[in-house]
Order: sequence, then structure tokens, then C-alpha cells
Amino acid sequence: LRIYIESNYEEMSKKAAYILSSQIRLYPQSVIGLATGGTPVGMYKELVRMHKEEDLDFSELTTFNLDEYYPISKDNPQSYYYYMMDNLFSHVNIDINRVHIPNGMAEDVKEECKNYEKMIRNAGGVSLQILGIGPNGHIGFNEPDTKLEPYTHLVELDEKTIEANSRYFNSMEEVPKQALSMGVKTIMSAKKLVLLASGKNKAEVIKEAIMGGITPEIPASFLQLHPDVTFILDAEAASQLL
Ligand code: F6R
Repeated sequence: LRIYIESNYEEMSKKAAYILSSQIRLYPQSVIGLATGGTPVGMYKELVRMHKEEDLDFSELTTFNLDEYYPISKDNPQSYYYYMMDNLFSHVNIDINRVHIPNGMAEDVKEECKNYEKMIRNAGGVSLQILGIGPNGHIGFNEPDTKLEPYTHLVELDEKTIEANSRYFNSMEEVPKQALSMGVKTIMSAKKLVLLASGKNKAEVIKEAIMGGITPEIPASFLQLHPDVTFILDAEAASQLL
């Protein structure tokens, strides 16, 4: 387990972009797992800058996003598809045919989940997975529970998650109550995991995830079992570790 503590959000974002861009430059055909949410926005901004100013080439990359709301359409500005286009894909030379995000409009959810797993396997597995962490300890949308799901599945979102994500919607009622998410085994199967966290409201859960017991009550605590995991934190998110 590696922990980088950066002074602020901007430095955390730069460090994450530096690590991800190093992977892309060394292995242009990498399979990258991507996250959405507020935390990686700065990292995506820095990657776009690297593409424009430093020739960072996305053309051979394959990507798989962690999750998507359900149901939601791609053209809904709150969808993670829209977020990815807006924050990264439409600004870089990525091949959109190699971009994968669970389909928020899938009619057959079971089939969609099974197929998502198959596509990850056929791509050779994820080499580097970017993660955020919910204030409740979720990774992807694997919510705290007495048991965790291994593979991509339909999730009932936690009340705390709906509340946390309502900041992007007009009201709590508009936040979808379900999502499609990679499972814990899907995530743990990536060769490298890189988790980003910023701000005081993540400090407590970061401490529990890194120093607490391994428990489905804090899904991120399972990362302690992974052989190659890097936490990139800003000072506030790291403040309970010392
Ligand atoms: C997003 C995801 C979630 C977020 C988490 C933190 O694809 O899988 O686990 O990483 O909810 O969200 P923010 O960054 O908005 O605090």
C-alpha cells in the first residue's frame, strides 16, 4: 500500500494525472478503469492539458467506467456517460469504440452486467483502475452491506449516497435510486488500483479504509488485500491518518 499526501486538491489531481499519463505513455494500449464524481474532475482537466500541450496520446487506449446510474439516458447531463464526454472524451483523441460505460438504459439488466464483465475479460482485464471513495466507504457503487457483490450488478443506492449526489440534481427526488456498478471482485482484479480522495468529509472514512478492519461495512477496506494499491490524498483527506 502506497500513500501520497499532497498539499491540496490541485496537487492531488496533478499527481493522479501524472501516474495515469505515465501508464499511458509506457503502455499506450492499456485498459484503464475510470471513475466519475467530483474528485477526479481536476485529474481529467490535467489529462486534457497534457493531451493538448504535451502530446499525450489516447488513441490506442481502452476504458471501462466503474458505474452508471439506472435508469438514465446518455444525453441526460447527470449521466456518467455525459460526464465522461464532458470532462475527458470529447477533448482528447480517444477512440469512442473502445470506451465502455454500463448502459443506463439497458432493457435486460442481467445481460448488460454479464456482457460488461465479458468485455473486460476479452480486453485482457484492467491494468489501472482509478477509484474515488464515498463518505460511507463505497467504491464504485458497492454500498456498505453485510455482504458484497463480486461482479457487475444492479445496486440499490444508499440513502447517504443519494444525499451526497443530490448536489448535482435539482432535488433529492431526482437522483436515480439505482445504478449499475462493477463488483468488488471486478475492481480487485485490476492490476493496479489508484484511489483519490480530497477534503475533510473523506478524512474519517479514509482512516477506516486504510487502518480499520476489513469489513463489508466499509467496502474500501477490501483494498487492503490488493497487492498494488496507491492512495492519493490531499492534506484534508489524510488529516485523520497521523
Ligand atoms: C464514481 C464512483 C463513486 C465515487 C464516490 C466519490 O464513478 O464510482 O464511488 O467515486 O461516490 O464521489 P465524489 O468524488 O463526488 O466525492
